[in-house]
Amino acid sequence: MAEVVYDSASRIYTPGAKPAVNKLSLDIADGEFVVFVGPSGCGKSTALRMLAGLEEIDGGEIRIGGDNMVGVPSRDRDIAMVFQNYALYPNKTVAENMDFPLKMRGLPKSERDEKVRAAAETLGLTEFLDRKPRALSGGQRQRVAMGRAIVREPRVFLMDEPLSNLDAKMRVGTRAEIAALQQRLGVTTIYVTHDQVEAMTMGHRVAVLRLGELQQFASPVELYDRPVNAFVAGFIGSPSMNLFTVPVADGGVRLGGALVPLPASARSAISAAGLESVTLGIRPEQWTANGPSDEGVPAQVTVVEELGSDAFLYGTLADAPDQPIVVRAPGRSGAHLGDKITLRTITDDLHLFHPDTGARLN
Ligand SMILES: Nc1ncnc2c1ncn2[C@@H]1O[C@H](COP(=O)(O)OP(=O)(O)OP(=O)(O)O)[C@@H](O)[C@H]1O
Ligand SMILES: [Mg+2]
Repeated sequence: MAEVVYDSASRIYTPGAKPAVNKLSLDIADGEFVVFVGPSGCGKSTALRMLAGLEEIDGGEIRIGGDNMVGVPSRDRDIAMVFQNYALYPNKTVAENMDFPLKMRGLPKSERDEKVRAAAETLGLTEFLDRKPRALSGGQRQRVAMGRAIVREPRVFLMDEPLSNLDAKMRVGTRAEIAALQQRLGVTTIYVTHDQVEAMTMGHRVAVLRLGELQQFASPVELYDRPVNAFVAGFIGSPSMNLFTVPVADGGVRLGGALVPLPASARSAISAAGLESVTLGIRPEQWTANGPSDEGVPAQVTVVEELGSDAFLYGTLADAPDQPIVVRAPGRSGAHLGDKITLRTITDDLHLFHPDTGARLN
């Protein structure tokens, strides 16, 4: 087990072009479960592959357990990877698949058998040890791939979208299994996904990347409550945060013809930045939908997503029909398509960002 440090690490595929990973710095603690998340092409896999030794490091350093990995071949880094296409050997049994990396290492048979047995036990694969992969479900195959990584007892596990071949239900179950397994084994793990729900539910901390640049590295709750910029604010959370660029007014900001009040601290942050307009962020649960009224922001419902426990009302602002909104309402709220509603914020702890740079103001 070991800590992992990215120290201003860069990867430049094409000289002169924008780096795929630009000066990434992260301190990952021993035993931590860290998720890299971000949209397609943001550099998640590249960052992971740099750690694995499958990609050059064009600047900076990556250290595992304090040792600089620049120039160290992949096989000497003491890591194990699980990919989306985990490619089991079709003609080998589950046991032989899991045994393979140990055999390659030349360990004695008795020791290998014991490690395979223990890993199978951990993963609930004992009864499948003699089967071939084709006789397993997608989730079971995925666990064999995990087993092949576990038997190696690496210092670091690296996983790149390991669940993306599974159906939605299996993904949720396996996601919980991997998180529990990581907790039990205590091995430093870096997990790549483009799915923010996976990131939020699995990671101790989450690194949000965009265009090769680290945006924020924080716990899921911190990302949700205090996103550092409008990009993270919009990326983390489902449904997404409502984001509006709005004029500053006395006591708050104006949205859809109504005043949204802001606390003194937020107002002074805005005036300290000398801004006449700001990007306002409101999570779907930070406001309530009421019937037509003089108070609040008028809007119209275009879609009701009834989930049973909650309902999400999608709509548009009455005086800005191209401005979409989403509000969380109690389940079975009785809202209908076409309803006119007014929105009132139920907290003044709203999110404010610079309208040009997107940086958090409050
Ligand atoms: N071998 C390569 N040669 C040149 N450019 C590459 C190479 N591999 C990746 N890139 C580019 O580097 C950037 C980051 O790619 P990367 O695979 O790390 O993205 P990602 O975040 O893993 O995306 P996804 O979610 O689609 O897997 C992309 O713009 C990609 O086109
Ligand atoms: Mg990728």
